[in-house]
Amino acid sequence: MPLPTIMKDRVRLPAIAAPLFILSNPKLVLAQVTSGMVGAFPALNARPPELLDAWLDELAAGIAAHDAAHPDRPAAPYAVNQIVHRSNTRLDKDLVCCVRHRVPIVITSLGAVEEVNAAVHSYGGIVLHDVINDRFAHKAIEKGADGLIAVAAGAGGHAGALSPFALVQEIRRWFHGPLFLSGAIATGRAILAAEAMGADGAYIGSPFIATPEANASDAYRQAIVDGHAEDIVSSNYFTGVSGNYLRASILAAGLDPDALPQADKTKMDFGAAAGDKAKAWKDIWGAGQGIGAVDAIVPAAQRVERLIQEYTEARASLCSSRG
Ligand SMILES: Cc1cc2nc3c(=O)[nH]c(=O)nc-3n(C[C@H](O)[C@H](O)[C@H](O)COP(=O)(O)O)c2cc1C
Repeated sequence: MPLPTIMKDRVRLPAIAAPLFILSNPKLVLAQVTSGMVGAFPALNARPPELLDAWLDELAAGIAAHDAAHPDRPAAPYAVNQIVHRSNTRLDKDLVCCVRHRVPIVITSLGAVEEVNAAVHSYGGIVLHDVINDRFAHKAIEKGADGLIAVAAGAGGHAGALSPFALVQEIRRWFHGPLFLSGAIATGRAILAAEAMGADGAYIGSPFIATPEANASDAYRQAIVDGHAEDIVSSNYFTGVSGNYLRASILAAGLDPDALPQADKTKMDFGAAAGDKAKAWKDIWGAGQGIGAVDAIVPAAQRVERLIQEYTEARASLCSSRG
């Protein structure tokens, strides 16, 4: 069960900072990768679409400057998230842009499509596909994805409903390639636990909302610091797919978190109406159940350092206690 070759010797932590709609941007990703952890942003965050090219230039320049100044500690690879859904009318253009920039890792969500995987493979990039169950995991690998992100219950954004133990166990019965576990992982010890369960690493989203680099309001950042697992509400009302949100933001929008209507999948739109969707996500704050471990707003580099320290200590203490 290896880390992808592209990550080996380039990361200080077996973990990926997950793409966050609206919130992730080149500044955040640069802070993550130069601290030694894979960082990611959704292509859809670059608005208007022409901005994607500039963002990828900005990242390349930042990484080159870091690598020149720290030849002994080059930046970790970065990832761009593509929503592979028929309503994402930007996908083809965004993909061409990623191919031109030779984006090292492409994270695909919602749809597994051979042509997307082939385009990324054409220049030596890899594709990680996120899945919420074993059936979608099979589909993704059949279509040519290189690795999987298992999104379990408790994750921020479009969470799965399955226990992380169940999900990893089922996938590991047949898949021996790169596998990352997502959902409420917010400490170095939890990253180690993901490895112990059979994953190659963790996929961490919500803790990075509480950083100055994230494109979040101060109130949203503070709500992540103040919040606990019980403050998270699951609903498909806002996007058409089940997702996890902070209860307080739903109340502030004048809605009853305990009586939200059910939505149907036709509400999903990553194209023309994405502006409305963005608005919904801005007012209604997505977050996973792991936020109880986030106790301060700190720069992303500091968050990564702390994860590395916790991970190292957890490994040492587990090894010594187990002989
Ligand atoms: C506010 C928010 C926005 C998200 N946006 C996206 C997205 O655009 N694309 C995506 O693939 N995943 C998205 N996710 C899911 C994350 O990539 C990741 O799976 C999740 O944050 C992991 O769970 P955690 O938040 O408990 O660490 C989002 C999550 C949150 C909290």
